[in-house]
Amino acid sequence: MNRISHPPICDYEGSDYQKVFWDQGARDYEDQVEAIAIRRLLRQPGELLLEIGAGAGRNTLRYPNFRQIVLLDYSISQLEQAQNRLGQGVRFLYVAADAYHLPFVANLFDAATMIRTIHHLADPNLALHEVRRVLKAGAVFLLEYANKQNLKAIFRYLLGRQTWNPFDSTPIEFAELNFDFHPKAIRQWLHKSGFILKRQLTVSHFRLDFLKRAFPTKLLVALDSLAQYTGAWWQLSPSVFTLAQASGSAVQEPTKGFFACPRCQGDQFDHLPNSLLCLKCGEKWEIRQGIYIFR
Ligand SMILES: C[S@@+](CC[C@H](N)C(=O)[O-])C[C@H]1O[C@@H](n2cnc3c(N)ncnc32)[C@H](O)[C@@H]1O
Repeated sequence: MNRISHPPICDYEGSDYQKVFWDQGARDYEDQVEAIAIRRLLRQPGELLLEIGAGAGRNTLRYPNFRQIVLLDYSISQLEQAQNRLGQGVRFLYVAADAYHLPFVANLFDAATMIRTIHHLADPNLALHEVRRVLKAGAVFLLEYANKQNLKAIFRYLLGRQTWNPFDSTPIEFAELNFDFHPKAIRQWLHKSGFILKRQLTVSHFRLDFLKRAFPTKLLVALDSLAQYTGAWWQLSPSVFTLAQASGSAVQEPTKGFFACPRCQGDQFDHLPNSLLCLKCGEKWEIRQGIYIFR
C-alpha cells in the first residue's frame, strides 16, 4: 500500500461512520436538507458521474440522472459498505484511491460530486485540480464544504469564546485533518482550478441540538429548504453546496480509455484475473471483490 505520495489522509478504514453518525446519530434533518440541495443543483443529466469520498454510498442513489456512477473513496471498507447497500450491478463501479491522484484519464466524466469530504483535505487545491482534469469541459461539479463563516462561529468569536476569526479566509483545522473553509477561499480555488461558479446553496441552517429537540424535523427541513436560496447572496450556514462548471469548450475529441495509472498516468492495462497491470510502469493494481484498488 501507499505506493504513491500524497498529503496526509483522514483514513476511514474500518470506521462505522455510516452507522454511528447517520443511521443512529439523529441526523435525519441534515440528511434530508442535503438531499434537497443535491436535487436542486444536480439537474443536468449525463452518462458518467464520479462521486469522490463516496463513503458508504449514503448519497449515491440521489443521482438518478446518470447512467453510471463511480464511487471513489480512500477506504476499502467504506466501499464494501457501499457495495452491501447498492450491490455490484453495472450501474456502480467501486474504486479505492485518493482524491489527489484520481486514477482516470482526463476529460472522462460528465459530473462529479464531493460531499462532506473536502473538509478532510489538507491540500484542497491539489484535489480540485485533479477533479477538473478528469471532467469534460462543460461538466458539472457539486461540492459541499464546511463553512467557517457560520453564524454560530461568528457569535462565539464576537463573544470571545472562540479564538479563530471566522471572517479570515485561511482554513481552520479544528481537529486533526478536519478543516472549515471560508466561502471566499473556496470560490478562489474553484476559479484557479478551472471552474466557473454557477450556484451556491446554504444548507443546515438549523443544525443546533436544542432546535432539533424543540421542533419537528419536518418543520426544520421546510424552513431550511427555503433558507437554502439565500446562499446566492450570503453564506452563513455550517454547510454550503456549490455547483460549478468545468471551463473550456464543450466540443472535444471523444475520450479514449478509462483508468489511468496513478503512478505513471499510463492508460493501457493488461486485464489479469484479479488485477490491472499498467503496461507503462509495470505496477499491478488489485481488483478485490469488485473494488479496483489504486493505492
Ligand atoms: C465524512 S465521510 C463522507 C462520506 C459521504 N460523502 C457522505 O456524505 O456520507 C468522508 C469520506 O471521505 C473519504 N476520504 C477522506 N480523505 C480522502 C481522500 N484523500 N481521498 C479519497 N477519499 C477520502 C473518507 O474515507 C470518507 O469515506
